[in-house]
Amino acid sequence: MTPAEKDLHTLLAALRPVTREGEYVYALWPDGKPLAGHIAAAVREAEGLTVVLPRTDADALGLKYDFVAAWITLQVHSSLEAVGLTAAVSAALTEAKISCNVLAGFHHDHLLVPVADAERALEILHEVSAASRVGNGGTELPAPELVLRTEEPADRPELLALTAAAFAISPVTGLPVEGEPEEVDLLRRLFDCAEYLPDFSIVAELGGEVVGHVISTRGRAGELELLGLGPLGVVPRLQRHGIGSALMKETIDRANAAGERGIALLGSPDYYARFGFVPSTSLGVQPPESAWGDNFQLLPLALWPGGVSGTFRFAEPFNGPKAGA
Ligand SMILES: CC(C)(COP(=O)(O)OP(=O)(O)OC[C@H]1O[C@@H](n2cnc3c(N)ncnc32)[C@H](O)[C@@H]1OP(=O)(O)O)[C@@H](O)C(=O)NCCC(=O)NCCS
Repeated sequence: MTPAEKDLHTLLAALRPVTREGEYVYALWPDGKPLAGHIAAAVREAEGLTVVLPRTDADALGLKYDFVAAWITLQVHSSLEAVGLTAAVSAALTEAKISCNVLAGFHHDHLLVPVADAERALEILHEVSAASRVGNGGTELPAPELVLRTEEPADRPELLALTAAAFAISPVTGLPVEGEPEEVDLLRRLFDCAEYLPDFSIVAELGGEVVGHVISTRGRAGELELLGLGPLGVVPRLQRHGIGSALMKETIDRANAAGERGIALLGSPDYYARFGFVPSTSLGVQPPESAWGDNFQLLPLALWPGGVSGTFRFAEPFNGPKAGA
């Protein structure tokens, strides 16, 4: 088992409920008052604005409340949700007569339970988690395996949505992107371009859910054919659990098996150096734009010919708005 798979196994093996510090309350926000305090969630209705915020903030602002809650975040993977774990959690808490409000965020589900019941709720969550890993015969069910497979045209809408989610925060600025990230249109055009290589559009699937994707298309340095990699994206909820690395390794393995010479990409050396990428100029290849500097990287594969010189050219769609790997 690779370290990445081991990581995923750890991730999936438990429900991992995490309690936030402090106590939270539901309060009605006074009409017309500018928002203040550390509001953690809000629901606007015709009758007014409901907010969830730390009790200390509500007290400081003089807001009225009844329900004082502990905030538990479920760091659960959605393939477990798919088999009804979230429903099982609510049912188990209800059975134990613990009232619970569920808030769904972009990354996780959150439970607000009465403060007095918080410890018991955590125990129940751990029990549900343990039970979910035991099959009918009493044996532990394996965690879903990460499957890496070649993209099929039917995957494309899902892959574009995944890319939109992965790049919603710009890897360059670290800030939210307004509108559709440029990588989405780049990928859309790469799917249909002359330099598209079917075996190098690779999907990562977990429990039947598409969770990552990487594409490499035909690029060239002078006359030498190389691969140009990107975009590479992983669903935000599962980033930093080895999926990106697994997709990179699969690309490298397939490229070596296909007799490719090297892989070029634009991205952070902090991430790609671990796979053996080096600044392209150290191998005689100039970036398409000199300003890219060391962020334009190259991985020489087993059949790297040496003595290469020239400027790299990505597949045609990269000549639109510039996007990173
Ligand atoms: C970048 C990305 C593809 C990496 O995939 P991932 O599955 O999250 O990454 P992995 O779990 O394989 O990462 C392995 C290691 O790389 C590190 N890492 C992940 N993203 C990184 C980044 N952007 N910069 C530097 N290091 C990074 C992780 O911390 C981890 O390090 P560790 O093993 O020392 O803990 C993914 O985070 C993503 O989709 N990000 C948003 C889109 C993006 O930035 N794409 C690439 C553009 S250059």
